[in-house]
Amino acid sequence: MIKRIAIRGGGFGDEGKGKLVNLLTRKAHICVRDQGGGNAGHTNEDEHGKIVTHQIPSGILNPNAYNFYSAGCLLDPIRILNEINEFRQRGYEISPRTYGISELAHVTLEHHLIEEEITEGKSSGVGTTLRGITQTTSAKVNRLGIRFCEFLDANSFKEILPEIIEEYAKKGINVSIGYLEKYKESIEKLAPFAARDEDIAERFKDKKWVIEGAQATMLDLDYGYYPYITTSNPSRKGIAFDFDYLLLVFKAIPSSVGYRPRISQIDEETQELLRGAKGKVDAEYGATSGRPRQLLWPDLIWMKYSINVNEPDGLAITKFDKFSLIPEVKFCTAYELDGKIIDYLPHDRIKLDRCKPVYGITLDSFDQDISNVRNYSNLPKNSKTIAQCFEDILGVRAAILSVGPGKEQLIIRDRKIYNFINK
Ligand code: IMP
Repeated sequence: MIKRIAIRGGGFGDEGKGKLVNLLTRKAHICVRDQGGGNAGHTNEDEHGKIVTHQIPSGILNPNAYNFYSAGCLLDPIRILNEINEFRQRGYEISPRTYGISELAHVTLEHHLIEEEITEGKSSGVGTTLRGITQTTSAKVNRLGIRFCEFLDANSFKEILPEIIEEYAKKGINVSIGYLEKYKESIEKLAPFAARDEDIAERFKDKKWVIEGAQATMLDLDYGYYPYITTSNPSRKGIAFDFDYLLLVFKAIPSSVGYRPRISQIDEETQELLRGAKGKVDAEYGATSGRPRQLLWPDLIWMKYSINVNEPDGLAITKFDKFSLIPEVKFCTAYELDGKIIDYLPHDRIKLDRCKPVYGITLDSFDQDISNVRNYSNLPKNSKTIAQCFEDILGVRAAILSVGPGKEQLIIRDRKIYNFINK
C-alpha cells in the first residue's frame, strides 16, 4: 500500500489540485506544501461554499491532518493572518496542532512588494500574481533574505536588517527600520506555528503523507516556458520529501494566466462557453488574481513533455465534465515551426514564439451530464474515447477523472489511490 502521494500540476497551474488534496488527505496524517507562496490559490468547496487556500495547505479542510508549510515556501506574514482568520471564521481549527510553518521559509516583506510593483510596471513584466514571489526568491538567492526563524526573533531581525536596508537603498527602495513595529502583530500571532522540517520528517516518518503541489510544471523555473515562469520548482524536481506515488494533474481544457506563448489558444467565443460565471467555484478566473484565465485546446506536445519531466505513476484529468459544453474537442498534436512540422517542444523562447498549432485529432464531444457518474464504465462512449485519446498519446493511465467541483465528484480508477483515500 502506498503511504506517500506527491501531487504535481502538469500544465500552467490552476488544474484543480486543491480539491484532490482535500480528498486525498481524508485519512492522511500530514499534508505538506513545498513550493511557492501566496501566489498559489487552491479553490475548494465545503458545506458553506467556496473557500480558497493560499499559504495553508488544502489538507486543512480535514480535521485530522497536520498541515506543514515547508522550507522552500515563501511566507507573507500579513496575508497569512487574513487567511488564518478567514478559516477560523468558517469554523476550522488553525492551531499548532493543525498547522506549522517552517523556520526556514523565507519571509516576503514590504520592500519585496514595492520592488515587484516597479518591475511588473515595466514592459518586461510577465504578469505575476503580485505576491512578491520573484523578489523574495531573488533576495534569498542573493543572501539578502530573512527566514521565518529570524523574523520571529527581534534581536536577530534587528541585526540582519541594516545590511538589507543598505542594499535596497542602492536600488532606490527605502526599507523602514520601523519594520519591527509594522510586523509586531504577525510576529506575535505566527510564533506558535514555527516548526522544523527535520523534526516533522522524524515525527511523521511512518505516517501517511500528501505532498501538495502549487503552480505547475510548465511554470517551473528550470523546465517551464522560461522566462515566463514562477521562481520555484513545482515539477518533480522540487518535491521536498520522500514519496512513493506521483500523481500528475492535467486540466481537461488547460488554462494559463500571465504572459507567455499560448500555442493552442481557443477562439474567444468557445472560451466564453467554457469559462463560466465569475465567482462560481469552477469558473475560469484566477483564484489569487481574479484575472480571466485563457483557455487552451489540449496540447499533447507540452503534455507529453510534462510527463517525461515528471515520470508520474498516474494522471488526474480535472474538469472532464467541461467537454459537454462544446460540440467537439481539438487536440494539438504537433507544431509548425518555420514551415516544418515538429513533434517536440522547442526550448528556445524565440522559436517557441513562432510555433503554430497543428490539430491532428478532432473528436466529437458528449452532451450528457456526467457529474454524477462515479464508475468509468457508466460514462458515455464519446467521453471514454476522449479519455482514451489522452491515455494513448501520453502513455500513462488516467487514475482519476474529475467530473464536477465537489470533492466526491470523481471517478477513481486506480486501486492504490482508492485504498489511500479509504484505508
Ligand atoms: P509569480 O509566481 O507571481 O511570480 O508569477 C509568475 C508567473 O506564474 C505568472 O505568469 C503567474 O500568473 C504564474 N502563476 C504563479 N502562480 C500561479 C498559480 O497558482 N496558478 C497559475 N499561474 C500562476
